[in-house]
Amino acid sequence: MTTLAAPPHPSDWTIDQRWRDYTPADHALWDRLYARQSAQLADRAHPAFLHGLDALDLGGGGIPDFRRLSERLFTATGWQVVAVPGLVPDDVFFRHLSERRFVAGNFIRSADQIDYLEAPDVFHDVFGHVPLLADPVFADYMQAYGAGGLRSLEYGALKRLSRLYWYTVEFGLIRDGDDLKLYGAGIVSSHGESIFALDDPSPHRISFDLARVMRTPYRIDDYQALYVVVDSFEQLLRTTLDTDFGPLYQRLSGETDLPIAELQPGDTVVTMGTQER
Ligand code: PHE
Ligand code: FE
Repeated sequence: MTTLAAPPHPSDWTIDQRWRDYTPADHALWDRLYARQSAQLADRAHPAFLHGLDALDLGGGGIPDFRRLSERLFTATGWQVVAVPGLVPDDVFFRHLSERRFVAGNFIRSADQIDYLEAPDVFHDVFGHVPLLADPVFADYMQAYGAGGLRSLEYGALKRLSRLYWYTVEFGLIRDGDDLKLYGAGIVSSHGESIFALDDPSPHRISFDLARVMRTPYRIDDYQALYVVVDSFEQLLRTTLDTDFGPLYQRLSGETDLPIAELQPGDTVVTMGTQER
């Protein structure tokens, strides 16, 4: 469990975004990141993501005010965005998701960190995650994930469930007709990885399989060596809702982790990578 010294808000860790405290330079940095990334994603991100960007008016000028953003988002799907100072404990994070609140860091990266970030900032959290929360099916998936997260803590299975988040919510790819499109927040908020994830010959790309994902560790210090492709958000929501994770955690506890960069016999391979990177 990730802990900070003292919770700013004893019950749920939320803080005021202090939108008025952003400087003109902070807003300008958001605008610059927004312009660069929305242009790059126009033919790469899934249409639901692009629609969310538009519908929520995230490029309306500067860092979004979470209160106004939440009004629009709540009208669309009943979700809200609340500010937190950084990483929060797992149970707090899951509780917010299960009650349809997305927690976002309120700080923005410094201008010399435009391409590399150690901790997620407001651009990653809001530009990366919030557009898809305007999609009704994805919105339900995120809520279900939060509920599932609380359950995973009871099973001591957080590690397994985190991998599902990583390979879908953060680094997921999705089919769109004959094409692959981006939807994972870690990809769409990254200038480099939003090219790499679709175009580079190095990573493997395989079809979504819940148990396979749960056995696969992930890389946090470089572009992914493996991307997981869903057919649709419905597939993601249905598979996870219809599976009782209890017995699955039980079964997986007896199995070893799989090497990140190796294809497995049961994989449905979408593209086989060279693993040169
Ligand atoms: N069905 C899962 C469980 O039994 C909960 C879950 C749903 C997890 C959706 C992730 C996503 O715990
Ligand atoms: Fe994220």
